[in-house]
Amino acid sequence: MSSQSLSGKRVLTLGPDLAGLAAGPLAGARIEAAGLERLIGVSAVDADLVLIDADAWSPPALAAAVQALSLCAAPPPVLLVGSHLPTAVVRGLLRLDRSDVLDAPYAPEVLGAVIATLLEAPAPAAQPAAPPHAVEVARCWAVVGAVGGSGATTIAIEIATQLCARQVKDKSVCLIDLNLADGSAAAYLGAHPTLRLADLGMAAEKLDAAMLQAFVTPVTSQLDLLAAPRDPDAFDAAPREAILRMLEIACESYDWVILDMPRHRRSWTLEALGGCDEMLVVSELTVPALLAARSLSDEIERDLGSGQKPKIVLNRLASRMFGPAPSMTEAEKALQRKAEAGISSDWEAAAASVNLGGPIATHRPKSKIVKDIQTMVERLAAHAARGGVKAA
Ligand SMILES: Nc1ncnc2c1ncn2[C@@H]1O[C@H](COP(=O)(O)OP(=O)(O)O)[C@@H](O)[C@H]1O
Ligand SMILES: [Mg+2]
Repeated sequence: MSSQSLSGKRVLTLGPDLAGLAAGPLAGARIEAAGLERLIGVSAVDADLVLIDADAWSPPALAAAVQALSLCAAPPPVLLVGSHLPTAVVRGLLRLDRSDVLDAPYAPEVLGAVIATLLEAPAPAAQPAAPPHAVEVARCWAVVGAVGGSGATTIAIEIATQLCARQVKDKSVCLIDLNLADGSAAAYLGAHPTLRLADLGMAAEKLDAAMLQAFVTPVTSQLDLLAAPRDPDAFDAAPREAILRMLEIACESYDWVILDMPRHRRSWTLEALGGCDEMLVVSELTVPALLAARSLSDEIERDLGSGQKPKIVLNRLASRMFGPAPSMTEAEKALQRKAEAGISSDWEAAAASVNLGGPIATHRPKSKIVKDIQTMVERLAAHAARGGVKAA
């Protein structure tokens, strides 16, 4: 392409080495040098062409950025150049209507010709905008353990599974593991965690329902999981606003959202809990756990200051034959309140399900755990249906 025909075209370049093209194949164009985050939500209104140097970015970051691009309503044409073109990135590009790749080294005329072809390709017809509609907001329940190992993740997974069984629609329930650094929900479900927190942080302001899908792992046709890969620095990887925005969009996208909450308070904890219809504090039947459950529940109630009260779920109820564990009545005395529900102990079923990967309801449907969770979910859902919670 001659510099004449590029004159006035807006070209977004990603990669410092592309700056040199301004005097060559990109002469005459209005060039904006940018980083990968610029691709989130970019449209043909922002640029006539996106030119990416694959060698300038790490393949996972680039793959995520290209994925974000494919979720844009009307992405501009994209040309990827470089000496290493990662397969995942190229596959992502193939989803775009107008894209091409060029192996480096290339002659300036070849680059010019490829750009000309891309610019001449007709833009796909714009999709008609969806009619405005009232956004239905999900019922959101949070589950938090009073002490580590009390069974919060197990119960969150079983609740999500029971809710799926009550739905007819696909993708109706989302389980969100907010133990960002070392959550176990994905491992328990035998699923691959795909919530990239750094990308979520970059996308936060523009995050919408379509973009959220780039971060979820489908577990079954009805259940989606939002869980981050293990990373000791995960809690610093995405700012508070990004986490809250993710929760907001998830609540707009699903009928039910279940949060597996970290026990330690983060900057977003109270706001996340404040948006929930139910908060369940899970305790096991030991005196320290019961005391911790009482304190945690009091702290949450006090600091929310909205009148919302966590409910306490006693997990791993066992027959007294097996030792001096407190009974449910004794536990309620220590808690100084009634428990919402008791879940039976069944180590074999719990272990089998995590070892096989999947809910207990799938691998050991006859376990008492499944029956107890079902009873609890039915009661809580009936309460929700009567509108006995959160003002919308
Ligand atoms: N009702 C139960 N009966 C038997 N084992 C259970 C039960 N609930 C949870 N477990 C087991 O207890 C351990 C800790 O559970 P987990 O859900 O990871 O707790 P948390 O998320 O609170 O740290 C896991 O091995 C899990 O399989
Ligand atoms: Mg857990």
